[in-house]
Amino acid sequence: MRKFFVAGNWKMNKTIAESRALVQALLPDLEAIDNVDTAVCPSYLAVPAVAELCLGAELKVGAQNVHWEESGAFTGAVSPQMVSEVCDLVIVGHSERRQLFGETDETVNKRLKAGLAAGLEVIVCIGETLEENEAGQTEAVVTRQLGEGLAGISETQAASITIAYEPVWAIGTGRAATPEDANHVHKDVIRPLLKKQFGQSRAEAMRIQYGGSIKPDNAAELFAMSDIDGGLVGGASLKADSFVAIVKAASMVDIIKKESEA
Ligand code: 13P
Repeated sequence: MRKFFVAGNWKMNKTIAESRALVQALLPDLEAIDNVDTAVCPSYLAVPAVAELCLGAELKVGAQNVHWEESGAFTGAVSPQMVSEVCDLVIVGHSERRQLFGETDETVNKRLKAGLAAGLEVIVCIGETLEENEAGQTEAVVTRQLGEGLAGISETQAASITIAYEPVWAIGTGRAATPEDANHVHKDVIRPLLKKQFGQSRAEAMRIQYGGSIKPDNAAELFAMSDIDGGLVGGASLKADSFVAIVKAASMVDIIKKESEA
């Protein structure tokens, strides 16, 4: 069975001091849970301070984006080598990057390849807008985003990739996808596409996170679904108690699933 992976995307929130305080509050509780992989993704400026606090801990540290070039005249950008100096992982293709900063499937693909080449684990975000959802285009959008976003990626490289399905209409709205709807996209759209590109066993081992208004009170029902392998958490990852509660929900569901398999 896949190990759950719950990551916090702090977006443009928390100063360096606030980031430190949040990680210090998280560490004791998270270190007590060993059946769930966890990560936090602070703003770039807070990453070194958070990484220092996480030295020797299981909690991984990620960046929220990365540029694909190694160095040069790219004002405001951060290279894969710079990220990999301090981070374990990086998020690419978040819908806010796509919608507010003009990212495309093509640049997502470049960032993914550069991140992998630098030895990072990469979370690739995909998901349809409300308009696309209502027009019945979810499958087409997700298929395009995955096809172009993962173009040229090998089965070996796929071992370092997590997919995050984040329907745009569910992000920050308090309106999460239903467990059934999210699982349908994971199981019947995303996983088959991964199988086609990487083969059955790699696709089965890859983790597909759900993201969009995950809260302590809906986490367990989402994680209980067959193909939801964790979450990419925004708002609820900004407070220690709610993030820990979501990780605990994953841990509990994992124990229940293993018991029912035994
Ligand atoms: P919320 O959990 O705030 O809806 O954000 C989800 C998200 O965008 C995580 O990347």
